[in-house]
Amino acid sequence: MALRRFDIEAGGDSFAFKPETEEKIAFWRGKYPADKQRSAVIPLLWLAQKDNGGWLSEPAMREVADRLEMPYIRVYEVATFYTMFRLQPVGKFHVQLCGTTPCQLRGAEALKEVCTKEIGKPMYVTDDKRLSWEEVECLGACVNAPMAQINDDFYEDLTPESLSDILGRLRHGADVTPGPQIDRVNSAPEGGTTVLTDPKLFDGSRASLSALPNLPAPAAAAPAPAPTPAPRPEPAVAAPAPKDDLKRINGVGPKYEQMLYDMGITHYSQIATWSQETVDKTEELLGFKDRIDREKWVDQAKLLAAGKFDEHEREFGQGKD
Ligand code: FES
Repeated sequence: MALRRFDIEAGGDSFAFKPETEEKIAFWRGKYPADKQRSAVIPLLWLAQKDNGGWLSEPAMREVADRLEMPYIRVYEVATFYTMFRLQPVGKFHVQLCGTTPCQLRGAEALKEVCTKEIGKPMYVTDDKRLSWEEVECLGACVNAPMAQINDDFYEDLTPESLSDILGRLRHGADVTPGPQIDRVNSAPEGGTTVLTDPKLFDGSRASLSALPNLPAPAAAAPAPAPTPAPRPEPAVAAPAPKDDLKRINGVGPKYEQMLYDMGITHYSQIATWSQETVDKTEELLGFKDRIDREKWVDQAKLLAAGKFDEHEREFGQGKD
């Protein structure tokens, strides 16, 4: 690992978290008991880095240490060990270019040349303060190699041309689109999917092969009305309850939501009562395994069925820093 030193001069004398960050700090500190508050050091350093323009100054690290009542050296040790923490100023858009083997084999070397040509040496900040770059180790998106992370977003399947275009757009304030830069959806094959293409797998017809144990019982046939001499007003017919938005459950996308609807699963309260047998059967019908437990669909559904949307967001939402 390269020796990493603070940029003392650029850091100035003081640092303060932004007022709107305080809520996030409280959230992370709330995860740990009072005598284990220092366990929040990494998320607090991350928030400090965000509030400090993308890098950690020495005063920012001191602020984190003071908040968590930690010796300064303990916080410095964490910040200097993890390369996700940057110890010198970066541009408004900081490019972390993956140079590990899969990306290397797929053209990362040429991308480095683009960064050097259009930005400069690693960690150099352009005069307009908009761009900087560094080479990093695997960012976990090898299947879409070569790739780079720019601020919080991944840009994948890059070519020298597409990276150059992205850098130019960022420099001039134009929109850029994260994700794969070629014709593929997420990590699906280039040019379109080649497996699981039978529409019968997704049109719900497989659901008819099996009945789930906790489906609502079919309504009993209504008794024939007794003849009455005088006309009576029609009884009001209750409108069916609207379906719940099952996509709120983290792990359920539009496709699985439709498949669940087709099976008659339309409300959080149904999922909230699933037994393990039902979970296993549902997974069989949806065509995957061990995912419902892993993604805690039942626990999520219990919160949503109880109307605890905020609690669900805190526990299972995607927007947590
Ligand atoms: S090797 Fe580049 S993302 Fe894994």
